[in-house]
Amino acid sequence: MAGMFSQNFIEKVIDASDIVSIISEHTNLKQSGPRYIGLCPFHNEKTPSFTVNGDKKLYYCFGCQRGGNVVSFVMEMFKYSFPEAIEYLAERANIPIERVNTFDDNTAYVRKKRLFQINKDAANFYYLAGRKNEKAISYIKKRGVSASSLKTFGIGYAPGGRSVLYSYLKEKGYSDKELIESALVRKNETKGYFYDYFSDRLMFPIQNVSDNIVAFGGRRFDNSQPKYLNSPETSVFVKHATLFNLNRAKNKLASKPLIVVEGYMDVVSLFDKGIENVCATLGTALNAEHAKLMMKYTRNIILCYDADEAGQNAAMRGLGILVSQGLNPRVLTLEKGEDPDSYVLKYGKEAFEQKAAEAKYSTDYKIDYYKNRYDLSDIVQLAEFTKKACEAAAETRDEIKWDYYVKIISSLTGTDPLVIKKQIYKSSKYVSAQSDSNIEDSGNMINISVPQQSKSTSAELIALKYILKGQSYFERFVSLGGDKSLFSNEDAADLYDEIKRLYEENGNVDISNNLVYNNQLAQTVVSVDNAQDISSEGHLKDIIKTLRLSLYEGRLRQIKKRIDETEKNCGKVDAALLKEYGYLKKELIKIKSEVNII
Ligand code: UTP
Ligand code: MN
Repeated sequence: MAGMFSQNFIEKVIDASDIVSIISEHTNLKQSGPRYIGLCPFHNEKTPSFTVNGDKKLYYCFGCQRGGNVVSFVMEMFKYSFPEAIEYLAERANIPIERVNTFDDNTAYVRKKRLFQINKDAANFYYLAGRKNEKAISYIKKRGVSASSLKTFGIGYAPGGRSVLYSYLKEKGYSDKELIESALVRKNETKGYFYDYFSDRLMFPIQNVSDNIVAFGGRRFDNSQPKYLNSPETSVFVKHATLFNLNRAKNKLASKPLIVVEGYMDVVSLFDKGIENVCATLGTALNAEHAKLMMKYTRNIILCYDADEAGQNAAMRGLGILVSQGLNPRVLTLEKGEDPDSYVLKYGKEAFEQKAAEAKYSTDYKIDYYKNRYDLSDIVQLAEFTKKACEAAAETRDEIKWDYYVKIISSLTGTDPLVIKKQIYKSSKYVSAQSDSNIEDSGNMINISVPQQSKSTSAELIALKYILKGQSYFERFVSLGGDKSLFSNEDAADLYDEIKRLYEENGNVDISNNLVYNNQLAQTVVSVDNAQDISSEGHLKDIIKTLRLSLYEGRLRQIKKRIDETEKNCGKVDAALLKEYGYLKKELIKIKSEVNII
């Protein structure tokens, strides 16, 4: 089959292609700082609005809003398909075409088995090291883990030397190449030596549902970061499709729900106390692939996240994912400050099981969640709350249950039950239209923003929502400057930074699968989820303009402050500063005259 290129090959071709010289063959480019500017080769114009950034290897036209990398340029220019564009670029760069051989299943299989064996040998090594290391022994004792759980989970210790595991595995006969592939070992390219990926950490082997060890998680003993380090993805470890302890939990689900928690230690402590029907995501938010994996074994799922704001937001998101898979999940909420680990150690098995029995169904949980976040004495917020609660009720798609929720919502809001009923009915059409047309994406069907958001914050969240739709959107924002200063809201800026990192690492980003777990980010993701979802070119342009506007205004304020300060001290104002000031003012007037600020 034609067009099968490895990611490696594609990257090599892009790396070897000089975007500036390729584009220069189609339009005259003038250098201006780190960028090049010229007349757009894709649309008719008299003043140049086409920019190329040679460092970032991207182009963007402010006029027709076309943008992308060297591959999309060639595709657009010559109307080539993706593989044709790659072939064209490879030829230009004198790189021989390499196609992936798709018939090497057998060797892939053999290689995977070797990786499982390496992981198993490593786990044994860590386990034995853990029984001899004082620090590990006393830490494990402090956390209250029994000897039998230590063995069941194979909890161990990665020694603190540079290449202790490496030497051990080399002695077992593994090659450097295999060890690198396992991700347990890395190479220092400048100095040429190999070193262990995990060092001085408490180790948790991670198994797939067939009990093969596919990766490890390692915890620090002190407060240094990251607290947990997980193996990077390998050919046997897909982080966002792996659930810790599902291999054991799956055999306990005949009469019990699957309890989903956040952390390794939550699983270990619950298991230790006899609650074995429990699994954990690995530092990523719950996503559709997790859901599908769980559904192989059960449809009865309880989410049990930390009681803090971020944990509750994560629960809202998780519910959305599970409901969109047609499940009827519940949420178990613990007292503030507790996680399942601390709770079960403090109160014991029965208390936890009691909590699980009282877990709230999705709709009840959501109504509660919103109730705690809206001020029902304010008419605007009351109306907003009523709408949300009705949307949550509509989700059940069951008219008998609707009747129950009509009573609840109308007594909470003092609204006529008939009005509520109508609203639920209306939402149900919206909900089913959404989930029928886009099951994957309707994670959170609610379509409103958190109360009291500033205009620029809400534009920034909507921008992030666009960015998460895919690379071409991302590039439109990158070309506006490419760094997080585009976002005035700190949380939005941080999320943008993380997304950018993921794009740079993987060429795409699926936030629910790849986001490195961090409470603040998880919260921002929920706000983004809840942001207005309109996909139209005109709307996108408005958002881009709003962002540019606030970026320029921010810079203008900075410059103004500096000018004022200089004048106050009777100094001479920098001419370049004045020039930039004038430029920004003019740009602002220009943007304002065309924009419909949302
Ligand atoms: P938490 O920070 O909530 O910690 O992370 P925890 O599970 O309660 O850990 P203990 O009790 O302090 O040991 C929850 C989960 O998020 C992932 C891990 O899977 C962790 O168990 N995580 C957390 C990471 O992957 N990296 C981190 O730096 C932190
Ligand atoms: Mn904990």
